[in-house]
Amino acid sequence: MDNLNKREFLKMTSLLGAGAGATVPTIATAAGETATPAAVPPLADLLDANFESSTGRHFGSQIIHHGEQAGFQVTPISQDKAAPGYQRPGNLSNPTVAALLRKVMEMDGAEAIAGGPCGMGIISQTYMALLKPGDRVVAHRCNYDWVMSLFRDYLPGWGIEVEFVDLTDPGNLAKSLKIRPAKFVHWEPYVNPTMEVLDTPALIKIAKQAGATVILDNTWLTPYLLQPFRLGADLVIHSVTKYMGGHGNAMGGVVSGKKDLVGRIEKAQNWFGGLLRPMDAFLVTQGVKTLPLRMRQHCRSAQMVAEFLQSHPAVARVRYGGLPVWNRQAESESLKGFGGMLGIEWKKDAVHRDLGRHVKLIINQTSLGDPVTRVLQRKEEKDRGIPARYTRVSIGLEEPEDLIADFKQAIAKCP
Ligand SMILES: Cc1ncc(COP(=O)(O)O)c(C=O)c1O
Repeated sequence: MDNLNKREFLKMTSLLGAGAGATVPTIATAAGETATPAAVPPLADLLDANFESSTGRHFGSQIIHHGEQAGFQVTPISQDKAAPGYQRPGNLSNPTVAALLRKVMEMDGAEAIAGGPCGMGIISQTYMALLKPGDRVVAHRCNYDWVMSLFRDYLPGWGIEVEFVDLTDPGNLAKSLKIRPAKFVHWEPYVNPTMEVLDTPALIKIAKQAGATVILDNTWLTPYLLQPFRLGADLVIHSVTKYMGGHGNAMGGVVSGKKDLVGRIEKAQNWFGGLLRPMDAFLVTQGVKTLPLRMRQHCRSAQMVAEFLQSHPAVARVRYGGLPVWNRQAESESLKGFGGMLGIEWKKDAVHRDLGRHVKLIINQTSLGDPVTRVLQRKEEKDRGIPARYTRVSIGLEEPEDLIADFKQAIAKCP
């Protein structure tokens, strides 16, 4: 990155900057020499360096071409219930579903994969298929709300112990597993909604040394920014409803990873019945082809909006993985980008309460990971590390200047 730090680099990089391995275009001069045009910005590739392509081609090229039905540029939608190979649409037997699942397997480097009806569906199916009464799960103290509900309100009723541990300090995981081993350890590398950036390589190492099976929810970072399976995780979950599909028009979830574990989940899907549907798989397949471009833009815009908000007098603190004041590892090379999610701690109750009424371009609504920027007011939950006067923001694909202008005018209207 020459003399630019990572934040400056991200901001200068245009959406259409090519990926790693690409060269800066040159222009032929009258004298027949070539010159590098000064206006071409540096190229940003935020791909996790652990990715390995099965063809040697770049990640971005692989997800466009890999897994499509032979002879098709766009695998058609196969909805015929009785078509050959459509007996079990949750696995690789339906061509439309298979096109998406093969792409995700290639991205993740996984041995096997299963699809479900949504992210939460595949998370529940994973745990219901693999857990038995008497098992113990260690999870970060904060996860996606409905994962918290599954772990807190349901699993204990089925005889499963779930311990919530503050994994921001990996030493806490080592301590917990030393006292009592666990069957599974679960976390989100970039935590919903607290924006904590967990030290995933260190946590995987500790969990594996203690003999636990590691299940990571990589919905927020996607395989473009983080490669958990190649770092040693056993199973990786994606809600493809979010960044993978990227357009907010389809729902799905996938679990990829070790063959024996995925096989057990897939077998149980015969009685769960919740499967990834061809129409959703088709839409996600089209969306996922632009994942690197979109993630670069989400990262760039979120960085710019986060820095603007951090300097605003109404703001106590911004939580974004790319801000060194929030994340000490913000500029390390191990994770090159943090996607589109950020959190704002406000100084005054009024801004927290009323912001959603005053935004014009931004939508005041739940959900995330698509082209539309959203704000979501959160209540304080001390045990999960969710602070008072906190707003979660999903930065979409609008131009960051417009988002900054919208935040500015909306904050100004709050008493
Ligand atoms: C980290 C994370 N995991 C899982 C899910 C659930 O995904 P879905 O809406 O597809 O059920 C979400 C939803 O926001 C999420 O943020």
